[in-house]
Amino acid sequence: MDMNILVVGGGGREHAIARALSCNSDVTIFSVMARKNPGIAVLSKRYLIEKETDVGNVANFASECGVNCAIIGPEAPLEAGIVDTLQKQGIPCVGPTRLAARIETDKAFCRNMMEKHRIPGCPNYRVFHDSDAACDYIDAYEGDLAVKPIGLTGGKGVRIMGTLDGGIVLEERLIGEEFTLQAFVDGNHLVPMPLVQDHKRAYEGDAGPNTGGMGTYSLENHLLPFVTHADYEAALEIMRSMVAAMAVEGQPYRGILYGQFMNTRDGPRVVEFNSRFGDPEAMNVLSLLESDFAAILCRIIEGTLSQAHVRFAPKATVCKYLVPEGYPAAPVSGAPITVGDYGGAILYYANVGEKNGRMITLQSRTMAFVGLGDSLAEAEEIADRAASSVTGGVWYRHDIGKPALLEKRIKHMKEIR
Ligand code: AMP
Ligand code: GLY
Repeated sequence: MDMNILVVGGGGREHAIARALSCNSDVTIFSVMARKNPGIAVLSKRYLIEKETDVGNVANFASECGVNCAIIGPEAPLEAGIVDTLQKQGIPCVGPTRLAARIETDKAFCRNMMEKHRIPGCPNYRVFHDSDAACDYIDAYEGDLAVKPIGLTGGKGVRIMGTLDGGIVLEERLIGEEFTLQAFVDGNHLVPMPLVQDHKRAYEGDAGPNTGGMGTYSLENHLLPFVTHADYEAALEIMRSMVAAMAVEGQPYRGILYGQFMNTRDGPRVVEFNSRFGDPEAMNVLSLLESDFAAILCRIIEGTLSQAHVRFAPKATVCKYLVPEGYPAAPVSGAPITVGDYGGAILYYANVGEKNGRMITLQSRTMAFVGLGDSLAEAEEIADRAASSVTGGVWYRHDIGKPALLEKRIKHMKEIR
């Protein structure tokens, strides 16, 4: 059955979405992105260069192209109500409405939902709108706290802000090892994807400032060595409970649900929920997807996910992001880069420009390589060799997916348990 699908967003995550859709020759891809992603552009019949949050223009383009449905990559257009606008024009979406997206866009809403519906895994937290009261609380608190602005931070993550624009959530600092569980959700039913571990810190050995994510890996059994089956089941149950709670509140959640968990001494606790695929995590799981992605999107929209048989290849993946020199504090844009022979890896473009016929860096993460293998070692070697083929003003973390880092995680988990 011929299908016209709109992909919103222009990063590595959306390139992975477009590539997965392109495996079905009956699918025609249309896309909207703020900057031209050459990988998405070649897969698209037509593309519009437009801010993804300009929902009116996106909707006009969608109607013009006669798309049957849309999938929304980033969180910003979800917060801007892109799903509400598209649905009003009769275009069903894979992605939550503005109100349902609050599980990500409003951290106070997320924590309050977890508390109200007694969903396990919620850290102790307090919401503040007054900076004096917040400071008093911090002074009196024994132990470490995570300080989170309530709203989106554009991937800049948790840090202390000078002012209290819109409030903050103070929550107990969780100790453990982090993992990501993503799932397809149709409003009621949830189909999980393989577990992934992201690396938020900029430098090797998990040092330096937080970033949008420097790279990720997943294992051939779709679990992680520091996550037991019981931990996995507990995390999945937390996600199911959140979806059930949203339905009870009259805000059914449809789209991709991303759970960021801290595996602690007492099992998984929720660091955050996101209302979309992770970037880079989407590149790991979508590179493994063996089932027809377009058919899954249809089931999400129709609410028939419980009948789906979703298969992922039993392989390990490693994703390495190349980032501009100086990233994240002072990224150098405009530096020419050359991609060499990247072997059997998959190349996903993120933020690249063009100058005098050459590819150049921009301010954000540049491009990523995903290696697939029968073992993590094989996947890592493929990704690393591919990443090292790129010359010019970019760098990447060599340690992601290597045994030393994994051993450190396993040892840490043993220590706290
Ligand atoms: P977020 O902005 O919620 O994605 O958080 C960014 C990163 O901060 C997470 O990936 C964690 O590494 C860390 N973090 C957030 N919340 C907590 C918490 N309650 N305890 C410990 N670390 C946290
Ligand atoms: N990789 C983390 C995120 O997409 O939020």
